[in-house]
Amino acid sequence: MVSPRLISLLCFFLISHHATISAQQNFLKFFCGNSTSDDATSTFKTNLKSLLLNISTNSNIYYGFYNFSSGENSDKVNVIGLCRGDVKVQDCRSCLADSRVVLPQVCAPNVREAIGWYDNCFLRYSNRTIFGVMQTQPYFYLWNTQDALQKDQFKFVVTKLMRFLREKAASGNSLHKFAAANATGPSNQTIFGLVQCTPDLSIKDCDICLDGAISEIPKCCDGMKGGRVVRPSCNIRYETYSFFDPAASQPFTSPPLPPSSPAVVQPQPKQGKCNTSPAVIAVGVPIIVLLAVLIFVVVLKARGTNNMESKSTYISCSELQNEVQKLKLQQEQSKLQQQQMNATLAFLLQNFEGQVPSEFVTTVQNPGAKTQ
Ligand SMILES: *[C@@H]1O[C@H](CO)[C@@H](O)[C@H](O)[C@H]1NC(C)=O
Ligand SMILES: *[C@@H]1O[C@H](CO)[C@@H](O)[C@H](O)[C@H]1NC(C)=O
Ligand SMILES: *[C@@H]1O[C@H](CO)[C@@H](O)[C@H](O)[C@H]1NC(C)=O
Ligand SMILES: *[C@@H]1O[C@H](CO)[C@@H](O)[C@H](O)[C@H]1NC(C)=O
Ligand SMILES: *[C@@H]1O[C@H](CO)[C@@H](O)[C@H](O)[C@H]1NC(C)=O
Ligand SMILES: *[C@@H]1O[C@H](CO)[C@@H](O)[C@H](O)[C@H]1NC(C)=O
Repeated sequence: MVSPRLISLLCFFLISHHATISAQQNFLKFFCGNSTSDDATSTFKTNLKSLLLNISTNSNIYYGFYNFSSGENSDKVNVIGLCRGDVKVQDCRSCLADSRVVLPQVCAPNVREAIGWYDNCFLRYSNRTIFGVMQTQPYFYLWNTQDALQKDQFKFVVTKLMRFLREKAASGNSLHKFAAANATGPSNQTIFGLVQCTPDLSIKDCDICLDGAISEIPKCCDGMKGGRVVRPSCNIRYETYSFFDPAASQPFTSPPLPPSSPAVVQPQPKQGKCNTSPAVIAVGVPIIVLLAVLIFVVVLKARGTNNMESKSTYISCSELQNEVQKLKLQQEQSKLQQQQMNATLAFLLQNFEGQVPSEFVTTVQNPGAKTQ
């Protein structure tokens, strides 16, 4: 017989354990490198653990950039933590403190490199030298599912704004390479843009990284109301709502709009659909899966109404986002299981066309999955 006391003790343990785990949010996105080692020494792990703790309890750094190493030779750990340039020091520290807990949870303990992104910060570690080295992979996109008004003119203003920000950020110093501003687009839409490099990059490398990220906007979020291109060394984001501290905003003179092409009738976004949940949540979900969900939702909706066509037009952004979020959750849960089974993530490589020189080889997803 198991005593009721023991059972309640067990329950208490499970509940409190669960509460500890769910106290931190999930990353927007994370990657775990496949360079692992089953070496007898766990010196790397020990170094990593103490270094991450060190960083998340560091109270000397106020500029949001953490670059530290610990250990020697093959046990050397290098860590970079970077907060978004407008984030207050307290929020920055708590974001990195969350990352420190979550990253080792989502990646297997013997992984030698990993990276995890939140809105406010990212944390990255590797056994390779990563300071001052421009790194464009692994990367991911996020995009708003709503179309911008008057797309051509909108894209024109986004590009101008991003180029302005790129120059501002690249010319920053070794503590900050960040810029944010707003512009006025067609139909009086305010466009908010933000770009950032890790400040250990040279001016030239920051410029190159941002230039590459900006040139991916057509792949990521062409004509959409918002989007992000996120790389380890730099990231860019634009939205039609304010998502950063206005105090960090640079003055920007909006360019005169080019004439719009009259022949094209722009589809108007459906009103009142996604206004409350602005960010977009289609992370790394292959388009096939997305389509499958769409079809599933349509079929589900059509049941009992015998009016598939009209119903299908009622799939709101938020419904889609919900489905995508569920998928994302499932995806990450299954990832976790995989890691527990110590299986490899090699299948993720299947769609990836380019040659990736060294890091995160199998974990580079095909972020272009959204486009063809
Ligand atoms: C990572 O996995 C890929 C594919 O399985 C493999 O080709 C590559 O050698 C691995 N890299 C390391 C560092 O283990
Ligand atoms: C942790 O930080 C303290 C002071 O902030 C420093 O003395 C110590 O060397 C650091 N440890 C590591 C592993 O970096
Ligand atoms: C990083 O760790 C992997 C796996 O143990 C090893 O193959 C690689 O040589 C290490 N890289 C460096 C720079 O030590
Ligand atoms: C860390 O970053 C600071 C500021 O960019 C820089 O001065 C320092 O040299 C860096 N440290 C390492 C080990 O790269
Ligand atoms: C454009 O928006 C601003 C504030 O967002 C407002 O003050 C201004 O009146 C608007 N102009 C037009 C033409 O709608
Ligand atoms: C746009 O940026 C300017 C600084 O150039 C700032 O004064 C203004 O408040 C910003 N507008 C919004 C809506 O945040």
